[in-house]
Amino acid sequence: MAIGMAHGDKRINQAIGRQLDKFAYCHPMLSNQPRAELCQRLSRLAPGDLNTAYLSPGGGSDAIESAIKLARQYHLARGNTEKHMIVSHYDSYHGMSLGALSVAGGAGMRKPYDPMLLKWPKIHQYSNYGRLKDLSPEEWGRRMAQELEEVIHWTGRQYISAFLATPIGCAAEYGLMPPASYWKTIREICAASLAVIDILEKDGLIDNSAKMGDYLHSQKNRLLAHKTIADARGKGLLMVIEIVADKETMDFFSREARAEYWLQSIGLKNGVVFYSTLYGPRMPSMEKRGLPFWIAPPLCITRDQIDELLDAVYTTLSEWEKKMGV
Ligand SMILES: Cc1ncc(COP(=O)(O)O)c(C=O)c1O
Repeated sequence: MAIGMAHGDKRINQAIGRQLDKFAYCHPMLSNQPRAELCQRLSRLAPGDLNTAYLSPGGGSDAIESAIKLARQYHLARGNTEKHMIVSHYDSYHGMSLGALSVAGGAGMRKPYDPMLLKWPKIHQYSNYGRLKDLSPEEWGRRMAQELEEVIHWTGRQYISAFLATPIGCAAEYGLMPPASYWKTIREICAASLAVIDILEKDGLIDNSAKMGDYLHSQKNRLLAHKTIADARGKGLLMVIEIVADKETMDFFSREARAEYWLQSIGLKNGVVFYSTLYGPRMPSMEKRGLPFWIAPPLCITRDQIDELLDAVYTTLSEWEKKMGV
């Protein structure tokens, strides 16, 4: 039996001919039976839950443009309007259209069009060069993949729409297959944000934070009765409390009195950490107002735990006021 699929395979030529006999023109937005059957077939062949296929009208560059736009549409539909940047590999190739060149890495290809391209972040592709001697390829794969996490962090994860890469190396690394740990780690870094949203939704944490936030703010007057609390503001499970030495003048203590130090150390003894004083006294520019500290507990907090937290704040403030001679 002859092996087909090389140039000029008659079966393929005939299949194309049959379609040309039937269709004079196929608008890319409209469906037709062979297209539907092909999508179904591709979905069956694709692994896991990749069960939707879309055929871009052109070739590879066009598919990349569609993927970039699809990712954007996905985030818009979920209300994440800031997400628009695609992270890709230096040295990668994704086609010649402007969007595809924006995600491609090769400097030579990009150079003439550079001012026209989108300045999106890039990471190194997996390479065996530079692997530390005492690290296995698996461990090295994990380390290299972590560059994605860093780039997402420094760019701002709210702007990142997708990571786009070829599974096998490009340019200097043509044909190199990264170890399984590379893609597994990349997946974990990308699948992490979605997993967090899943948990937020499934465990009812958003609902809980609204309810517990209302409860927290219902305690506001009790807080304001405290001698040194000038304000308690915020929304939901974020409450910022501003403490002063004197509510009339809104003055705080002098630097020499080391009020922040004492608040922090008394707080630690009572099991609370005041984030705003964690790094020592405030910068001089911030000394003109009372000292803000915030209550921002995990979204799974219960009513009893809020009471416990507020008790610790009360106790700390009472002991601190005594120490400061208020
Ligand atoms: C990984 C990859 N993506 C995209 C493309 C662009 O495809 P096309 O030339 O069909 O636009 C290519 C082409 O070689 C490619 O190798």
